[in-house]
Amino acid sequence: MRIKNLQEYHEAYSLSVEKPEQFWADIANEFDWIKPFTKVLDWSFDDYSVKWFEDGQMNITANALDRHLKTIPDQAAMVYEPNEPGDEAITLTYRQLHARVCKFSNVLKAQGVTKGDRVCIYMPMIPELAIAVLACARIGAIHSVVFGGFSAQSISDRINDSQCKLVITTDGAVRGNKTIPMKETVDDALVSCPCVETVIVKTRTQTPVSMVKGRDLWWEEEEMQASDVCTPEAMNAEDPLFILYTSGSTGKPKGVVHTCGGYMVYTAYTFANVFQYNPGDVFFCTADIGWITGHSYLVYGPLLNGAISVLFEGIPTYPDAGRFWDIIKRHQVNIFYTAPTAIRSLMGFGDEFLVGKDLSSLRVLGSVGEPINVEAWQWYDEKIGKGNCPIVDTWWQTETGGLMISPIAGITPLKPAFATLPLPGVQPILVDENGKEIEGNGVNGNLCIKYPWPSIIRTTYGDHERCKTTYFSTYPGLYFTGDGCMRDEDGYYRITGRVDDVMNISGHRIGTAEVENAINMHTGVIESAVVGFPHDVKGQGIYAYVICEHPTINDELTRKDILATVARVIGPIAKPDKIQFVTGLPKTRSGKIMRRILRKVAEGEFGSLGDTSTLLDPSVVDSIIKGAL
Ligand code: WTA
Repeated sequence: MRIKNLQEYHEAYSLSVEKPEQFWADIANEFDWIKPFTKVLDWSFDDYSVKWFEDGQMNITANALDRHLKTIPDQAAMVYEPNEPGDEAITLTYRQLHARVCKFSNVLKAQGVTKGDRVCIYMPMIPELAIAVLACARIGAIHSVVFGGFSAQSISDRINDSQCKLVITTDGAVRGNKTIPMKETVDDALVSCPCVETVIVKTRTQTPVSMVKGRDLWWEEEEMQASDVCTPEAMNAEDPLFILYTSGSTGKPKGVVHTCGGYMVYTAYTFANVFQYNPGDVFFCTADIGWITGHSYLVYGPLLNGAISVLFEGIPTYPDAGRFWDIIKRHQVNIFYTAPTAIRSLMGFGDEFLVGKDLSSLRVLGSVGEPINVEAWQWYDEKIGKGNCPIVDTWWQTETGGLMISPIAGITPLKPAFATLPLPGVQPILVDENGKEIEGNGVNGNLCIKYPWPSIIRTTYGDHERCKTTYFSTYPGLYFTGDGCMRDEDGYYRITGRVDDVMNISGHRIGTAEVENAINMHTGVIESAVVGFPHDVKGQGIYAYVICEHPTINDELTRKDILATVARVIGPIAKPDKIQFVTGLPKTRSGKIMRRILRKVAEGEFGSLGDTSTLLDPSVVDSIIKGAL
């Protein structure tokens, strides 16, 4: 499974294209199967359907936990670094993690959760979050983790969309010097979720919370009564493993569905290879488990490889901007995986927070979630890697389940800000607007993938049509990523950013339509249009153009009110950075907003607005520019 040099990469890549079924079957056979598979792949991108290892049966936790009990039972599996730097870090060995997952599996079973049931998890970054995820997987329940920063409204939308019958949360959360309510937010969400029968609450902050008789249970009490023996459920490879909601260009977030077998094989394979993980290495992924990066490279990928995974509860700037570096020293981290936003933000605090920090344990650095600019890449390379650590700039998506285009650490020759080459099994192609393939090198286009890999999205929960139209209809016969991409003279790939109406704010995916809907819920707002604009730290910021019924009495206050509305409807991460009140939006005669113009204005590029002759009322543009100045 492990690629050891560049030639092996090229060989693996060729085999994966010429004989994909043989390639993936060999890798899949390295895992424990309850019933071996005989069919490897069945697929169609035209009438979308993909099935990997379809007649095989397995359980991902048997591979992520039980398998290691024979070899490394007393090695650390997870190291929890609490929010407070002075608090004791907690290590869970494979044996301990296994026992806790089994116990909690039995807690879920006792509440009547069975295979195929959906369970919503809304928790801060504590070990119990990973335990809850794994316990669902063990009994075949489908987990739907909702990032702890989302609002009650967002939680209830997600719970209702997939009809979750149980919710797991905590009393509160601590992030930096803030205490954040969790149970209370869940309570607000559940006012409109009749499908939820049970809520399990883990104590974290001792915040007083209301506990509803007959519905709400304490994690600790239930765990105490549960046995630590639990046979993993035999899952068909194509049974859903989890749902993770993500934003698209239109409508509400959709539930991306991943299945058990393919996701296991692909996350394990990419983790081992891209990071060149060696037994005993300490791996620190800073992503929250509420996002796909946390699912695949904090929980599943590392554990499937018997790795040591660090789970950090806090934020990079508490108690100061040197926190990551202290954690690296404290836990002797060898592989560090974070987002460009974090790098840029820490860079902005200045090098004083690096003085005296011992980063000598580091061997590999990773970047994920958004394009990394050359300046940040170089700072990461020089100041953190000391010029000695390869940087793997990993491009992938919630829908891809695992890393797609990325260097292999220490093996692929690097170029700053390039995701470099596709991993084995990944067949990228660039197309123009009409879907025509752009061949050759030194070209730009829309990034598509033309062949399935094991962890490709299977469906959007409850709405397969939506999955087909979103990903497989723009360019028939191809999976469309939504990203723009260049392929340089050497055939190296560089992702240039989204070409659709999805923004990437600090590495978080947010749809323009979602933010517009939230703004439009504010009283007095008639219409709004939202675009992304370049932001030094966040990569992209949110710029909102808002039409109100009548001139506001106090612009500043109205802006704040709108921000409060957005935070309440979606969550604080979706709050616009700038709000400009306008009297009209640039629309074509058919009523379509010309976002191109709004993007230019948001970027401050007033001189190069392009053709505005198709606008219904071109004078709108002048007044928008005047207002922006
Ligand atoms: C962007 C996060 C440039 C891209 C794993 C993609 C990147 C979206 C990179 C998916 C990268 C992710 N370089 N852009 N290395 N990695 N992206 O679903 O626009 O939260 O489509 O998955 O992030 O975001 P998602």
